[in-house]
Amino acid sequence: MFVEHHIIKNYRNIEYMELMPVNGVNVIYGENGHGKTNIIESLWLFTGCNSFRTRKNNELVNKESDFSTLETEFFSGERNQNAKLIIDNKKEAYLNGIKQVSPRKFLGEFQAVVFSPSMLSVVKEGPSEKRKFIDIAISLVKPYYAVLLSKYNKAIIQRNSLLKQINQTSKGEDLLYVFDEEIARYGGKIIDYRLKFFEEIKNYSSEIYSKISNGRELMKVEYINSLKETGYTSVEWSEILYNSLSKNHDKDVQRLATSFGPHKDDMEIFLDNMNIRSYGSQGQQRSAALSLKLAEAEILKKSCDEQPIALLDDVMSELDEKRQEFLIKYFDNWQVFVTCCDPAHQSKIKSDKVFNIQDGKLKEQLCFFI
Ligand SMILES: Nc1ncnc2c1ncn2[C@@H]1O[C@H](COP(=O)(O)OP(=O)(O)O)[C@@H](O)[C@H]1O
Ligand SMILES: [Mg+2]
Repeated sequence: MFVEHHIIKNYRNIEYMELMPVNGVNVIYGENGHGKTNIIESLWLFTGCNSFRTRKNNELVNKESDFSTLETEFFSGERNQNAKLIIDNKKEAYLNGIKQVSPRKFLGEFQAVVFSPSMLSVVKEGPSEKRKFIDIAISLVKPYYAVLLSKYNKAIIQRNSLLKQINQTSKGEDLLYVFDEEIARYGGKIIDYRLKFFEEIKNYSSEIYSKISNGRELMKVEYINSLKETGYTSVEWSEILYNSLSKNHDKDVQRLATSFGPHKDDMEIFLDNMNIRSYGSQGQQRSAALSLKLAEAEILKKSCDEQPIALLDDVMSELDEKRQEFLIKYFDNWQVFVTCCDPAHQSKIKSDKVFNIQDGKLKEQLCFFI
């Protein structure tokens, strides 16, 4: 797929901008703080995922405006399609003129991978950043996973609020079993999806890491399940989770939190069996983050009938020449949007079209595409 036309209105520092990208490498350049990431983010939202920078819709709307409008025309499924998002404190989504119940309906319709400097957090930060990576990567490929996750998270919030009530009033334990059952039902399926995803990402990421590092070390990712068991079916996981939840009511009431389930899962990354978070050098951590993201791209590409688009925000400056080359080569034949401060310093990027951004405005666009 590729984006043909993208219109941004009252979005962050962009009052109005119209982009006509090419199906090749689109370079968006300009000084810091002028709106490059905002453009990348506005494209990313059409995947149906939340922004990679915030979960608050209000932050996306230009400070002087009540709402933003994003419209994109893209070629996919052998036809021209259009999608629209109207953002205020919520998001209203339209696909080919038809209002969707939620922007999540864009999942599987508009496919993209995003690379940004924050991708390092999957290596450096704690479990919640790791779960975010896993959840987005699976949702892009299996939209139903996002539905399950949303229902699961809702049930966890409700269970935790019931735990608080029981803690204060000693009433309501009967109802806890109802939430245990609901959480176990969704949770078992989530664990199953995650395990299958790890089987794939494990192989791809270690293969890619070995190419980037000339086989110096072996990278291995591992899924850490809060139930600490392995090798079951989705139904069996539900049973195991239900047992753990229902046996730990007293502990959970005291802690005011649900101790077991996919919301406690984690992921570990090893280089030659050493944990990269504590022992990896900056360069190794960067290569591992890049390998994981490229493995995500590989899984997405394999699952789609057509090529997703690649959004590369400010990542080139973070990588040495060899890794830059690797990244650009990987995305050969994809529609790419890449941001940088000065394209003259990016010898590895062969741009087909360049967009110069100043103060949230498109100053110039030049096409080299034949
Ligand atoms: N809701 C908003 N309303 C107006 N301006 C905003 C809003 N959110 C962010 N900005 C502005 O957008 C600019 C940052 O844009 P960004 O795309 O991150 O820049 P860069 O070109 O460095 O990637 C900053 O000047 C910031 O103040
Ligand atoms: Mg930026």
